[in-house]
Amino acid sequence: VTNRTFTMLKPDSIEKGNIGAILEKINAAGFKIVALKMTQLSVADAKEFYAVHNQRPFFGELVQYMTRGPIVAAVLEKENAVEDFRVLIGATNPAEAAEGTIRKIYAESMSINAVHGSDSNENAAIESNFHFSGREMF
Ligand code: CMP
Repeated sequence: VTNRTFTMLKPDSIEKGNIGAILEKINAAGFKIVALKMTQLSVADAKEFYAVHNQRPFFGELVQYMTRGPIVAAVLEKENAVEDFRVLIGATNPAEAAEGTIRKIYAESMSINAVHGSDSNENAAIESNFHFSGREMF
């Protein structure tokens, strides 16, 4: 079934000049970009987006990281998009990520991990709607 997932290239990816390389890998893996923008999260935005993690010890660090500079947000379409994108990005911890995955190549650490990928179809829709209006998704 063709469906959609939501991704962010996180601030470290933008700082290192990796936007083009990461988008190329996403395209090469068969994902179609149906929404795309560079933006910067406010502290309130990041707290809302990551509300599910607000009791975790790393929450403050996560909000600081995700707001320190611009991100690139995108909605991606493909057969089995959510699951296949999580395979493409690799494990949260780059030390455990498979060879050739985006996090293996571009992430620094468990916390500074280059990219986000939605973990379910439901969250993909919630996260896409958080970042994009209907007119911005094609
Ligand atoms: P992601 O899985 O996209 O969304 C939650 C984020 O929290 C995760 O990426 C990391 O950036 C961060 N994170 C998850 N686990 C840890 C951890 N143990 N320590 C610090 N940051 C973490």
